[in-house]
Amino acid sequence: MKKIITYSALAIMGLGMVNVAQAGDAAAGKVKSAICIACHGADGIGTTNMNPNIAGQKEAYLAKSIKAYRDGVRNDPMMGAMAKPLSDADIDNLAAYFSSL
Ligand code: HEC
Repeated sequence: MKKIITYSALAIMGLGMVNVAQAGDAAAGKVKSAICIACHGADGIGTTNMNPNIAGQKEAYLAKSIKAYRDGVRNDPMMGAMAKPLSDADIDNLAAYFSSL
């Protein structure tokens, strides 16, 4: 029994690793993007001169930037607050969505 549990746990961990390597889910990202569009636009084009365009940006770069704001590696009061509650999966999905625009 113990062995089965160990193998199952390993299998689940393995699946998790596959997920990390996979690209985000743009459809799920679109749902989450509701809070972003006030500043970055529904089309991913910034709504003011201070809000950067993120449409069509490389997915990996978007994910890296948002994680950097969340983790305090990159500092901006606005984006830090926006990124704080996001999980890695949320961020990957948002990156996939805005990259696809
Ligand atoms: C209140 C306005 C506001 C909201 C809401 C907002 N952002 Fe931002 N975002 C900014 C500003 C301003 C910057 C530029 C910050 C800087 O100078 O580093 C930025 C920067 C970024 C960058 C970096 C762009 C680059 O070229 O490096 C990404 C990616 C990003 N935001 C994604 C998001 C996502 C995804 C959301 C929704 C979860 C979001 N933002 C919500 C204002 C906002």
